[in-house]
Amino acid sequence: MEQLLALEMVRVTEAAALASARFMGRGEKDEADRAAVEAMRATMDEIEFAGTIVIGEGERDEAPMLWIGEPVGRRTPKGVEDNPEIDIAVDPLEGTNLVAHGQAGAITVLAASEKGGLIHAPDTYLEKLCVGPGAAGTVDIRDSPTENLKRIASALGRNVADITIVILERPRHEALIAEVRAAGARIQLISDGDLSAAISTAVSGTGVHAVMGIGGAPEGVITAAALRCLGGEIQARFRYRSDEERERGAGMGHGDEDRVYRTEDLAPGENLVFSATGVTAGDLLEGVRFFGGGARTHSLVMGYQTKQVRFVDTVHMFNRDRPPSVRL
Ligand code: FBP
Repeated sequence: MEQLLALEMVRVTEAAALASARFMGRGEKDEADRAAVEAMRATMDEIEFAGTIVIGEGERDEAPMLWIGEPVGRRTPKGVEDNPEIDIAVDPLEGTNLVAHGQAGAITVLAASEKGGLIHAPDTYLEKLCVGPGAAGTVDIRDSPTENLKRIASALGRNVADITIVILERPRHEALIAEVRAAGARIQLISDGDLSAAISTAVSGTGVHAVMGIGGAPEGVITAAALRCLGGEIQARFRYRSDEERERGAGMGHGDEDRVYRTEDLAPGENLVFSATGVTAGDLLEGVRFFGGGARTHSLVMGYQTKQVRFVDTVHMFNRDRPPSVRL
C-alpha cells in the first residue's frame, strides 16, 4: 500500500506546488494558499482511496476545503470496505508569506497513514525540539536549550560553536535566542517554515543541526511523520494561545501541557508516507520552474515501511501538441 500511495501522493503535492507557484511574488498569500488547497483537493479526488483529513486547514466552519474530518479521495462504488482507509495530514502551502514575497523555502506537503497513524491535533502551537538521526535519542525538551546544545554537539562530534540551530524569528523567542547565542551555537533565524527546517536536520549537507522554539502544531505532526521516515526525532509540548484553544485541545486529549509528545506519539503509524514539493527554491528542494509549455518540480517522497527516500524530479507537459523539450 505504502509504495503505491507514495507515488500517488507526490502527484498531490506537485499539483499544489504548480498551482501556488503562479502566485510567487504577487503579494497575495491567501490566493496562493487557496490555489494549493484546491489543487490538492482535486488531485486527491482522482485517486482511489477512502481518505479523511485529520490535520487540515482548520475546523469545518473555518475552512471551505480540507477541513478536519473532511472525506477525500475517490471512493469506488463498491463501498468503503474496498477502498483503503487513509488518514491525511496536509499543509497545502507551508510558507504562504514566502510565496507572496517571492522568498525561498516554501513547500506543499502532506503525510498519510493507515487509520489512527497521525495524531488529531487542534490548530494551535507546539514547543518543538527537532534533531536528525545523529542526535536522536540524546536530547530532552524538559532540559535547558544550553544542555541540549551540548548534547547535540557531542552526538555529532562537534563543538557547540560548530552547530547551527534554526529558530523562527518571533518576539516569543527572544529569551531562547539569547540563550542559544550565549551558549555559542550559530543561529539561522527564519521568517517562516519550521517544517522544512526540521526535515533539514535529518538531511546532511543542509547545515542545519536542530530546530528549537514554538511553531504550528499541524506542522509538528507532519514533521513527526517525516522524521520517523528519516530516523530523526521531534519532542514537543502543546502551547495554547487562549483558553478556547486549551479547551479544544483538552477535548482532543491534549490537556496536559507538561506532557512531552515524542515522534511516535505524534505520528504512530506503521504505514507512513510523506511527500513535499518545492514551491520556491530552498535548501532542501528546488522551486517550481516554468518554461514554454511546461514546468519542472522537485519533490521529496518517503515511506516508513519501504525505508525509501526519493527525490523526484518531474517535467510536467502542459501541452502535448507543442511539448517542451525535456532537458537533463
Ligand atoms: P503558513 O503555513 O501559514 O505559511 O505558516 C508557516 C509557519 O511559519 C510555520 O512554518 C510555523 O510553524 C508557523 O507558521 C508559525 O506560526 P506563527 O507565524 O504564528 O508564528
